[in-house]
Amino acid sequence: MGNQDMTSQGNRPPVEAANYWQQRYEKGDTGWDSGAPEGPLLQAFHDGHLPVGKMVVPGCGTGWEVTAFAALGFDVTGIDFAAAPLQALQARASAEGLAPTLLQADIFALPDTLNGQFDSVLELACYCAIAPEQRDAYVTVVDRLLKPDGMLVGMFYTNPNKVGGPPFKATVEEIQMRFAPVFATVDLRPSADGEWHLGLCHRKGLRQ
Ligand SMILES: C[S@@+](CC[C@H](N)C(=O)[O-])C[C@H]1O[C@@H](n2cnc3c(N)ncnc32)[C@H](O)[C@@H]1O
Repeated sequence: MGNQDMTSQGNRPPVEAANYWQQRYEKGDTGWDSGAPEGPLLQAFHDGHLPVGKMVVPGCGTGWEVTAFAALGFDVTGIDFAAAPLQALQARASAEGLAPTLLQADIFALPDTLNGQFDSVLELACYCAIAPEQRDAYVTVVDRLLKPDGMLVGMFYTNPNKVGGPPFKATVEEIQMRFAPVFATVDLRPSADGEWHLGLCHRKGLRQ
């Protein structure tokens, strides 16, 4: 990723508010946005971990992965509650002749019509962006969005030296504990820089 520092500066709304993120996009205060899809997520696809199908990206931001996976043949839905990144994403997708579904919505208040619709959830800098108190609710969101045999692929921010946030760090133990009720396997692989873990999580009953 680019400069991952999402730390709040000045007098801002709380991190749970769409306006917090909207303001950061408006100011160009988006150090997490590397301007390209994340290599480890694409590698997971090329390594055969991520079957083509319906994918949802919660907190997709400007959605470099949304367009990258749409270009690979995935039917991608990107969700974000801030308008600015979705506008940028829509413009880029249109320019590339891609038509992902973009939804401006709070991931914690999604319509029931999305329940059980997706083969995969792609996590990138959403779990670390929400308030840590919202993490159990995030797991519930992932659970309800996925098909019974769906999977979660994501990059989890685990930099042990990080204080405060966003991004709010997680530990391997915490991620495993939180996702264990929903997934049979929670496979976490450390990044070379020691700041992230690639997570490959499969639903109960469908180990790979
Ligand atoms: C750190 S950014 C990461 C964006 C993108 N995934 C990336 O890696 O470039 C976190 C994103 O999550 C979105 N977000 C945070 N909480 C959200 C919520 N409750 N519902 C929808 N989007 C949310 C923010 O608007 C922001 O675009």
